[in-house]
This record gives sequence, C-alpha cells and structure tokens, in this order.
Amino acid sequence: RIPEPCVVVIFGASGDLTKRKLLPALYHLEQSGLLPKDFTVVGVARRDLSATFAPDMKDGILKGGGVEAEDPKLAPFMDRVKYFATNFDDDAGFEALKAYLADLDGQFGTKGNRLFYLAVAPEFFADIIARLGKHGMAKPEKGASNWVRVIIEKPFGTDLASARKLNDDVNAVLSEKQIFRIDHYLGKETVQNILVFRFGNGIFEPVWNRNFIDHVEITAAESIGIEGRGPFYEQAGALRDVLQNHVMEVLSFVAMEPPDSFEAAAVRTEKLKVWRAIEPIPVEDTVRGQYGPGKVDGKDVIGYRQEDRVDPESQRETFAAAKLQIENWRWAGVPFYIRAAKRLEKRVTEVTIVFKQPPLHLFKSGGKGSIEPNVISMRIQPDEGISLQFGTKVPGPTTNVAQVNMNFSYAEAFGKSSANGYERLLLDAMLGDATLFAHRDGVEATWALFTPILEAWAATKPDFPNYDAGSWGPQESCDLLAKSGRSWGKL
Ligand code: BG6
Repeated sequence: RIPEPCVVVIFGASGDLTKRKLLPALYHLEQSGLLPKDFTVVGVARRDLSATFAPDMKDGILKGGGVEAEDPKLAPFMDRVKYFATNFDDDAGFEALKAYLADLDGQFGTKGNRLFYLAVAPEFFADIIARLGKHGMAKPEKGASNWVRVIIEKPFGTDLASARKLNDDVNAVLSEKQIFRIDHYLGKETVQNILVFRFGNGIFEPVWNRNFIDHVEITAAESIGIEGRGPFYEQAGALRDVLQNHVMEVLSFVAMEPPDSFEAAAVRTEKLKVWRAIEPIPVEDTVRGQYGPGKVDGKDVIGYRQEDRVDPESQRETFAAAKLQIENWRWAGVPFYIRAAKRLEKRVTEVTIVFKQPPLHLFKSGGKGSIEPNVISMRIQPDEGISLQFGTKVPGPTTNVAQVNMNFSYAEAFGKSSANGYERLLLDAMLGDATLFAHRDGVEATWALFTPILEAWAATKPDFPNYDAGSWGPQESCDLLAKSGRSWGKL
C-alpha cells in the first residue's frame, strides 16, 4: 500500500537523527516507490538553516549508503525537502508554520494530511503538542477528511509518574489513535521476525513454553560508549535508555500469546498481558554496573567517569541486568534474564532460548563434561540470523556427542539490507498502522515494573566502576544466573 498524500513535519530537524536516520529512511521509501507522489518533508528547528538544510540532508542520504549521487529520483526528492525556522514556544512562529504548511498543500497537493515527528528532547514533547493544539494543527478541520498524526521518540517519561504525566498531557490534545510512539527496535526486521518465526511455523510454537524451555536470555550489548552524549546519559543510564523499552519490546514478542490478528489492538493486548504478568522484580534480582577504562577492539578507551560532561563521581549505570519471572500459564517458573550495556566486548543483540535437557543422558559429550542443551539463538544484530544448536555424534568408533549449529543468515538468504528500522515505521505511521508502535498502557506497564528498581538503586551508593570497558560486565551479572546453576550463553 502507498500512503495518502501528506507532509512529514520534523520538529528538531537540526539534530542528528534527522540527517542520519529519518531522511535516509524517507529516501529509501521513495526509491522503493512507497512514498505518495504528492509528498513533502519540512524540517523545523530554532536556527535558520534554510540555505543549508536540504544539502545537508542530501549528504546524510548519501552517507547512509545504498544511494548513488546520480540516482534519478534524488534531485526531485530533494526539491521536496523544505525547512522552516521557529522557536518551539513561539505562538507567532506556529501560526506562520500553519500558513506555510497550507501553502505547501497548495503547491504539492498534500491535502492537509500531516505527520508530525517530534525528534526533540523529551521536555519539549508536551509543549509542542499543546501548541499544535492551540493553533488548530492537532486535529483535522471540522468535517474535513484529512488526518493528523504525531510520532514521538523515546524516552516516554523517565519513571512511572513522569510517563503518566506525559501521556496525560499528550492525550489532552491528541486522541490515542493519533499518537505513534516510536521504538525503533520494532522497526527491525529481525524483531518482527520473532513473531513470524513463532507464529508462521508449525514446529516451534508447540515447544515454546515452560514444559520445554529452561530459560530465556535477551542481551543488548554495545561496544560503543556514550558517544559524547554525557548530559543525556547522566540522566538516563542503561535501564532507562534501553532495558525498559527496546529490550522489553523484544521480550514481549518472545513471550506473548498468539494474537487473534496482526492488527494493532490485538498485538497490543497480548504484549500488555505479558508485561502485566511479570512479577515485581526484587532488587536482588537486578545488577547495575559502570565501565571503567579498558580496551575495546584492541584500543584503549576511557572509563565512563572520564567521559566528557560526566560527573567524575557519577553513579549512573552503563550496565543493567535483571531476572524476570512471567507468572502466567505458559511461562511460570521460566526465568527471563535480560541485560543492556555500553562498552561491552562487542556489539550484539540476541535472544537466546535455552531448552531443557533430555530426561536421561545416554551419551557422552565430546569429552567436555555434561551434554549441552538445545539453544535457539535469534540474532537481532549484527550478523542477523537464527541458529539452532543441537548435539551430534562425533564420527568414530565411540558414541560421543558434540554441539553443532544449523544456521540461517539474512545476508545469505536475502542479500544485504540497508533498512534502518525507521523506514518501516515511518511508512506505517503514514499508513495509520500502529501495530509496531508503543502504546500508553504498555509504556506505563513497563515503567511500573522498573520504577521501584530505579528508586532502590538511587537509595544506595554503588561501588563503581565495577567492570572494565571491553569485558562482559560486572561479576554480579554472572552471579545472577549462577545462583540457579546457569550462565550467560556465549555471544
Ligand atoms: C537508542 C539509545 O535508543 O538505541 C542508544 O538511546 C543506543 O543509547 C541505541 O545506542 C541502540 O540502537 P541500535 O539500533 O544501534 O541497537
């Protein structure tokens, strides 16, 4: 399907996201013939960038890869990239923006349809939305058939109370149907494929439960540090930045019941049921860490406390892990171990499903002690793919078992893809499909789980730094699994 004619209006367009992700994603949609013919994109920010905005965006598109400078669609696309400067608290500016957008409707046939993208710091979300409301831009005009939708970037609050307040403020102006809370992990093919793997095949779902699965691990490991985002990260930390949102979205796909359709409401209902079934997390079942100096990819790197604009005594966590118990019929008794961190040994996001052992060990392992369990590894990134580990007889006169892997690689099966997650999500928002977006209730449910942990952490002083950059995190992270005789799988 191709969306209806529309204008995409990006607030905060001078920021990195617009150049690195959003414009390249929009242009990839154009290349694939998925944008409407009548379309424009307007960057909005405080500074006057009208002369440099379009060339700068072109640069971002070319750097994003998969696009040649002489691509015939590029020049006509760039003609539709516009810029409008206003302060976000300037009523006159918003009035002028409204007139400007109406003018673009006249020029480009965009029919009053608007997709506002708030790529701004979260403290501006509610104000910008309130101002859109005040200036009559938040709703279609009475009796008109145009649509208005708003995409909000995470973080959606920093704890339960702030998330509720933000939701209340936003819902005071927009109906929930108009709001698209983006979590770019849901735009990743490999994340969407968790549902296809489970519900589009006959053989996995029958064993996807407590009778066959011993435990589940979800790791979102990054080798990069905080990349100059000191002030942001000092406020956020690994739990707020990645664990509460990206990891929990992935977890909901791994654990949810089959929805009765692939419609937004049905999928949301099942995700919410998972999050609400998670037992309150005892603080003893969590681990926090902060990296000290170390070596990543053979290069010396500084510790978190030495990073630019970070408190030299900072207590902010760059590593967060937890053990979750989903108390429902399918998962009772199966621990889900989750972790997210900066400056680990390598960048890898993976879901690891570890199965129970056979009831009796008839065979010897290849001399390495006990036989290993079957494991399904869903590699979200990089080296996207899925593998199944199973035991096999080592050729020879004795019956020894060795572990081997059956591998599926996206790159081998489908070729390399340059899709960055935002493509699919921008397209879906233009089409009005909210299936792959976060919803108010879900955001509040995950904050309800983690807010007590944040509070407990804030109340005690951690002994930081407690892991070397380039390692796999603090010892306590291994202890979290070792308590029950388990260990993190090798990634
Ligand atoms: C963002 C976080 O939401 O996700 C970043 O703010 C993190 O800190 C990023 O690096 C990870 O995204 P990806 O797609 O690179 O895994």
